[in-house]
Amino acid sequence: MHVFIVYAHPDDNSFTHCVLEAFIRGIKESGHTYEISDLYKMNFRTDMSIAEYKRESSQDMALAVAEDVKYEHEKMDRADIIVFIYPLWWSDCPAKLKGWFDRVYTYGYAYSDGHFESKIKIKKGLVVCSAGHTLEHLKEIGIEEGIRKIMLLDRLQNVGINDTELIILGGTANRDKSVYEHNLERAYKLGKELFLKD
Ligand SMILES: Cc1cc2nc3c(=O)[nH]c(=O)nc-3n(C[C@H](O)[C@H](O)[C@H](O)COP(=O)(O)O)c2cc1C
Repeated sequence: MHVFIVYAHPDDNSFTHCVLEAFIRGIKESGHTYEISDLYKMNFRTDMSIAEYKRESSQDMALAVAEDVKYEHEKMDRADIIVFIYPLWWSDCPAKLKGWFDRVYTYGYAYSDGHFESKIKIKKGLVVCSAGHTLEHLKEIGIEEGIRKIMLLDRLQNVGINDTELIILGGTANRDKSVYEHNLERAYKLGKELFLKD
């Protein structure tokens, strides 16, 4: 089985990068394969061009899709599971990842007007989000529900990735070592046990 990880954090010394490393260690130990789009390292262009905007707004599939976007589609075509790893910034994903959705989810690939099926064949999506606030607090203030609606419902289920899961690795703001360790152990287990339910 093959995992496609979409990762968005600019700093290799961050906690979120440790989460990525722990997750990958788990995947490797499980014997499965992975590939990664490290969006900052790739310097992935996240602003839509006018040509891209015109293609999406006119839903004209005759208009060209950018080469770097096609490359992301190919990674999705190869994957059994897609995993997003990022920090919670202002209650959403970093703009770098939002721009990935804007550009990669093209008309005719990710969605249609109902006349044909989405080309996304991945059935399972996992969202792993590190957060300064605790999970309990994010639930209390309604942000956890917002992330579920936007990431799981809109950005995964609505393009045909029906089996979805959200893991918030929260409470990083208090810089408690035991919270870090607990979250990293969870990330490792998520990687190691990713395919156990299939
Ligand atoms: C610009 C910015 C915005 C942030 N916004 C939130 C937020 O809305 N909610 C939250 O729980 N944490 C927020 N945080 C905290 C990060 O989620 C937390 O630092 C991260 O998950 C773990 O640290 P790392 O940057 O070392 O990976 C924010 C951090 C930054 C830098």
